[in-house]
Amino acid sequence: MKDIVILGIESSCDETSAAVVVNGRRVLSNIIATQVKLHAEYGGVVPELASRKHVESIIPVVDKACKDAKIELKDVDAISVTYGPGLVGALLVGLSAAKGFALALGKPLIGVNHIDGHICANYIAHRELEPPFICLVASGGHSHVVNVIDYRKTVVLGRTRDDAAGEAFDKIARVLGLGYPGGPRVEKKATEGNAQAFSFPRVKFKDSPYDFSFSGLKTAVINTVNQFRQKNEQVPVADVCASFQKAAVDVLVDNTMEAAIKTKSKTVCLAGGVAANTFLRESFEKACLNAGIKLLYPPLALCTDNAAMIASSAYFSFIEEDFAPIDLNAIPGLKLGEKYS
Ligand code: KG4
Ligand code: ZN
Repeated sequence: MKDIVILGIESSCDETSAAVVVNGRRVLSNIIATQVKLHAEYGGVVPELASRKHVESIIPVVDKACKDAKIELKDVDAISVTYGPGLVGALLVGLSAAKGFALALGKPLIGVNHIDGHICANYIAHRELEPPFICLVASGGHSHVVNVIDYRKTVVLGRTRDDAAGEAFDKIARVLGLGYPGGPRVEKKATEGNAQAFSFPRVKFKDSPYDFSFSGLKTAVINTVNQFRQKNEQVPVADVCASFQKAAVDVLVDNTMEAAIKTKSKTVCLAGGVAANTFLRESFEKACLNAGIKLLYPPLALCTDNAAMIASSAYFSFIEEDFAPIDLNAIPGLKLGEKYS
């Protein structure tokens, strides 16, 4: 069978990325222009600045992706792009570029759900991986326990009812003055701390055992920090980070493992920026070993936002000839399993 070469474009948040991927699994290039420094000054992503930076970066990033892949844009079989969820202005930049390329080159356009992209990063990292499996998608915007039934069929078993896991890491880092993005900084501090120092809440819902809630945890951590500050005492930053991280990871692991056991899944996959967390990975290693379940996760560069995962997801649409209309719009609140009409 002929190889299918797909260009992926991702601009949903603060990374402008383009990638060339063959048959959904073999990455020829994956260029990521990060805006982290631009937003760090403000302690979080400023949507308007993100859109403007995407406009500046998108064409050079696509050019570099083609150059590194040693192909010309006219040689790709399809153009794929994230159309949601994400920041509307940011999404529109990638989407407009993708539509322009598709129209000019007469190539099909494929719209990709960003969360599905995160799941598909696992197909790139593990070429033998096939559904079904349970996937935890934990990033700055989402925390989902997903039953991946087939390449294009997913059922969300649990989701966060308030903050996403990565968002909680970012907020705690901000309160502690650790800077942005918070996840890697909290993780680093936590390695010097005692995870038993504080007993922070782990929320469990009786009616939906796979759902998460991180806002109570976040408030408990902030209250603890404020109590030290009110007494003019030094905040034990490392202990707070370690105890917070343990509480967050405990619920991520517990809910995901409960879902895997209940659905009799043989494999658990991790995805999204929070899956870059070493403590999370180690906790899952232990839990999966105990349960006799295989654990897979992508390398760090494929956990955080990138376009290779978008081109991977697009491949499974391509083989079913599921192409997007050229008037495809950005859908900031797009849910997993939902599609443009
Ligand atoms: O998947 P991603 O790049 O973007 C979204 O789709 O949101 O995830 C970014 C999120 C941020 O909240 C960041 O703090 C978190 O992932 N993150 C981490 C780590 N690395 C990134 N959280 C915990 N530990 C990490 N090592
Ligand atoms: Zn993401």
